[in-house]
Amino acid sequence: MNDIDTAIVVVAAGSGTRLGAVEPKAFVAIDDASILRHCLRGVFRARPAQVVVVAPETHLDEAREAVLAEAGSAAECVSVVAGGPTRQRSVAAGLAVLDPRVETVLVHDAARALTPPEVIDRVADAVRATGHGVLPVLDVVDTIKRTVGDDIVASVDRTELAAAQTPQGFPRRALMDAYANATTDFTDDTAVVAEAGLPVHRVSGSEDSFKITTPSDLARARDLVRRASQDQPTTDEAGDESEMADRIRDARQPLLPRVGVGTDVHAFGGEGTLWLAGLEWPGEPALSGHSDGDAVAHAIVDAVLNAAGLGDIGTHFGTARPEFAGAHADAFLGETARILADAGWRIGNVSVQMQAQRPKFAPRRIAAEAALTAALGAPVSVSATTTDGLGFTGRTEGVQVFAVAMVVPA
Ligand code: CTP
Ligand code: MG
Repeated sequence: MNDIDTAIVVVAAGSGTRLGAVEPKAFVAIDDASILRHCLRGVFRARPAQVVVVAPETHLDEAREAVLAEAGSAAECVSVVAGGPTRQRSVAAGLAVLDPRVETVLVHDAARALTPPEVIDRVADAVRATGHGVLPVLDVVDTIKRTVGDDIVASVDRTELAAAQTPQGFPRRALMDAYANATTDFTDDTAVVAEAGLPVHRVSGSEDSFKITTPSDLARARDLVRRASQDQPTTDEAGDESEMADRIRDARQPLLPRVGVGTDVHAFGGEGTLWLAGLEWPGEPALSGHSDGDAVAHAIVDAVLNAAGLGDIGTHFGTARPEFAGAHADAFLGETARILADAGWRIGNVSVQMQAQRPKFAPRRIAAEAALTAALGAPVSVSATTTDGLGFTGRTEGVQVFAVAMVVPA
């Protein structure tokens, strides 16, 4: 622990009634990691602190495993204790094991699994700077009404309101005293200390700190994490892990379409007849290459995968998939559409331009567009041009294709 003077109590002992999963909420998976593990990821990326995880009595071992998976060298500063029947009792169980040197205590809901580390540091800094309680909040954007049964009885001025998040931070002594004297069961710690008269100030929370309460919250978290991991470098160039929060924020642009580019070149000199743009061209010289050499189809695959950030044709159709060795456009494009759908993307459209001296494309443009569109399940338009006799396409040595795809979140 050395000079650590801050503790973060992570309460994860609830059952998650509103989520309705089989296991307690903190142990429900977001991706291959649970809600608790994702929460701890943020906690361990904040500045060093004693961490106390409060877990259900039945899941202490699972909680320890989550700590081991996420804590790295910080594991020695972590305790796991059993919670109680209410959130307030669970927090009290965590406070009971604070290191004597701790002066600032943050209490954090495991259910706010994607809270950025900067919010945690912001709260801790504000407590130290002011000696007061600190609550991260978001402005309320909805118009709020007071209701009785089905009746709207009053409008509430939303400028007076703020939506409370966690971690909520306090000077240790004030928090301990407030908990010792609390007479009512509250759902957050600010209410406990406010009852004891301690001033509490607001700092900015984060949209990412939403609490996973219902199945649709879980779906939102899964979506954010999936999109963030798609944008993540795959090798050890991953860089500073604290970038995760930025990535999640960037990934919240799912409402924006994305574009991708793909190109392909194949030489004439293959066997059999030509396959190009999803059509067979009897009497035309064949292109060579893995599969049927259909450079139009291959450029489309690259453009679409590229737009979704899912790699390229080699990633998905390389030698590990021999079934694509002699395949035509319909197989490649159908499989590409499936990969996109699995990853949560819909293909908007694809625009293709082919540079080729032959075959003469215009008479079969409509048939080609129809075949490619049917195979991909999204509109494909194709234009063709010669290159005035210049270059390898002008010398009829091969064809060159450029494709641009647009994809949108499904
Ligand atoms: N919590 C806790 N001990 C309890 C109840 C809640 O540690 N007895 C924790 C939860 O694990 C969660 C946080 O307090 O991280 C916020 O509570 P909430 O979102 O209400 O979670 P649950 O109580 O588990 O869910 P529900 O109210 O739907 O049952
Ligand atoms: Mg609850």
